[in-house]
Amino acid sequence: MSNKLLLKNIKSLLSVYEIAPLKLTGTEMAKLPTLDNAWLAVEDGIIVDFGDMENFPGITDWKNLEVIDCSGKIVMPGFADSHSHIVYAGNREQEFVDRINGLSYEEIFARGGGILNSAKKLNETSEDELFEQSKQRLYEVIKLGTTAIEIKSGYGLSLESELKMLRVIKRLKDLNLIPVKSTFLGAHAVPLNFIENKQGYIDLLINELLPIIVDEKLADFIDVFCEQNYFTKEETIKILEAGNKFGLQGKVHAEQLSHSGGIQAAVKCNAISVDHLEFCNEDDMHLLKASNTMPTILPGAAYFLNLPLPPAKKMIEFGLPVAFASDFNPGSCPSGNMMQVMSMACVQYKLTPEMAINATTINSAYAMSLSNEVGTITAGKKANFIITKEISSYNYLPYAFGSNLIESVFISGVKF
Ligand code: NIG
Ligand code: FE
Repeated sequence: MSNKLLLKNIKSLLSVYEIAPLKLTGTEMAKLPTLDNAWLAVEDGIIVDFGDMENFPGITDWKNLEVIDCSGKIVMPGFADSHSHIVYAGNREQEFVDRINGLSYEEIFARGGGILNSAKKLNETSEDELFEQSKQRLYEVIKLGTTAIEIKSGYGLSLESELKMLRVIKRLKDLNLIPVKSTFLGAHAVPLNFIENKQGYIDLLINELLPIIVDEKLADFIDVFCEQNYFTKEETIKILEAGNKFGLQGKVHAEQLSHSGGIQAAVKCNAISVDHLEFCNEDDMHLLKASNTMPTILPGAAYFLNLPLPPAKKMIEFGLPVAFASDFNPGSCPSGNMMQVMSMACVQYKLTPEMAINATTINSAYAMSLSNEVGTITAGKKANFIITKEISSYNYLPYAFGSNLIESVFISGVKF
């Protein structure tokens, strides 16, 4: 017997599409198809229909039917967080204080801190303990409205520890809470034992780790931190091409601290997304326009490290799609709050609320190849959505930043 759920009297049902596009580009991002005074029907965890309360469906079979009255409340697709590092051990609050006292992110890394600090902690943590810590973070972000997430490795930086991270990501995936995409980010930093032999580390990633990862189906994507003192554009291309050969599409950390050619590498290798983009220039925008790569802004990291703002609005005006994601990680953004990300998109980057909602749902779902499963209210997609508290309009969501306006989060039609 099937389980049915019917939401009625929804004040506004957001992002409704009979047939959903894969992503929204340029001026399309300003549109948010909305149904006021609406109902939404779910069967066995899948959205089956929606409509106007004037045409409320006649109910003949009340068996296994749950009805929820959403008067005064808004229902929207859950957030798709296409960039996170929620598998990590411990935290880096001491580095936070060091930065307040004047050290830069780069200086902390040069002293063996930063990503290397997290790698040391992760090495000392058992797989089970790492899983427990990471699971807590997954629960936390689901409560905050995230209903699909991408998670990266990259704090292992050795064969054993990268595999440990990827196995933890797989265990999180196997909890079957929300869709989880896994990204192999072995090229996050060069570990200390390879500091004089970077090529040796790249060979280890490509020749030893990749075959195991693909064999054990531990990753969906491959990522590189393309940056001065990390990996060059040429190295990025080499690593992405190796991943492509094994069927892993790229996702690049690019142009965050300097202009390093990460966008060029990403586009050349047909990456699904290119993320950060603080130093993205006009030539890069031309490249992106002729590609299928989703430019992704991580406002939490730019905020936390006091970086210049990436040109998100300019990209939209230029006719590009843009996604926004959290970058939840212990170093540059210890927060996975996507409602806050949406608010930053509006306040700091001047996206309209419609653009910000699209950037954190449909476009960020594209950035992790989940367009067909989540990101809009469309029949056939997973019933992963947010019911807000009673609010005046969806503009109130980014406006009242910091307030918890989420009443409940539904995953596959079940309240989390
Ligand atoms: O996305 N930019 C590189 N990597 C992460 C941060 C890594 C860290 O500091 O732990 C990021 O910001
Ligand atoms: Fe990141």
